Amino acid sequence: MRVLTGIQPSGRIHIGNYFGAIQPILDYQNRSELFLFLANYHSLTTSKSKEELEGFTIQAAIDLLSLGIDPEQTTFWVQSQVPQVMELTWILSQCITVNQLQLAHSYKDKVAKGFVPSSGLFFYPVLMAADILLFNSNRVPVGKDQKQHLEFARDIASRFHQQYGEVFLIPEPEILEETAVVPGTDGQKMSKSYGNTIACFGEEKELRKAVMSILTDSIGVTEPKDPDSSIVFAIHSLFLKREERASLRDKYMAGNVGYGDLKKSLFECYWEKFRPYRTKRESLQKDIGLVREILEMGRQKASSVAQENLSKIKKSIGIL
Ligand code: ADP
Ligand code: TRP
Repeated sequence: MRVLTGIQPSGRIHIGNYFGAIQPILDYQNRSELFLFLANYHSLTTSKSKEELEGFTIQAAIDLLSLGIDPEQTTFWVQSQVPQVMELTWILSQCITVNQLQLAHSYKDKVAKGFVPSSGLFFYPVLMAADILLFNSNRVPVGKDQKQHLEFARDIASRFHQQYGEVFLIPEPEILEETAVVPGTDGQKMSKSYGNTIACFGEEKELRKAVMSILTDSIGVTEPKDPDSSIVFAIHSLFLKREERASLRDKYMAGNVGYGDLKKSLFECYWEKFRPYRTKRESLQKDIGLVREILEMGRQKASSVAQENLSKIKKSIGIL
């Protein structure tokens, strides 16, 4: 079974990425063939500068390798370094209508957030379908926000099959319900593009500040608090086992504890969780040459699969 997913290098990897996508794919690493890439052409749709995109791409590679992506087991590359995906994007653009693309929630959300409604941003789902279909992926683990994009990929493949015959594997999405949407510090979906993240790595002071800035209601210290409507509780729960979560829930409901203390205890949990990975990160940060070599190894493996499949696809549609 081939499992594939992509992560945009549009900012620092955060705990939403970790719980929504990275943790589930690490599970796959030992038991399936895992394909993972940095979707830098997707990030280009929201990029602010050359330096930023370049920097985020290398930093995201370091983050993922530190969090446990093993390049010996996983094919790990940068999207733009396997350019066959762009040819397939064009081919697949014939299999989806403008009307369908207009239904994309992610496009509407981004435009509502003030991003330029470029045709690239509008076309984002077609590039994503190409990412998935080019590598014959059986399974695509993603956060809930990507569900519609996966439906588009499946629709595009079916439409292609109706016209040209079966070439693609129709991929299965895999959405982890429990961690489906990790809220950000403001309660919206945590996202690199919304500036509401808690990064997996960074300066302690800055990260503590991010945790302390999580939005709360104004219920007083002594009052009981509703865990189900609390963003602090939702985030803290991600780090806890079932029994620990139940006892934290009781603590909220009993009152006599302020949000300041609840946030401090969340910070400790979070800081401990990523402690072992920080050491690995520090050594990779000092050896960017090694990171580039790893990505080159991934590029070679991904390219050979991409080239073989693209040739078949082009043949099936009459493109010389
Ligand atoms: P971002 O929205 O921060 O730019 P990406 O789009 O690069 O994140 O997402 C990378 C992976 O992480 C995807 O599988 C996505 O579904 C998942 N993901 C991103 N944000 C969250 C979140 N807040 N909760 C759960 N999963 C998330
Ligand atoms: N759009 C995805 C996201 O923002 C990233 C991505 C790009 C992706 N191509 C993909 C995810 C292919 C899974 C499969 O999260």
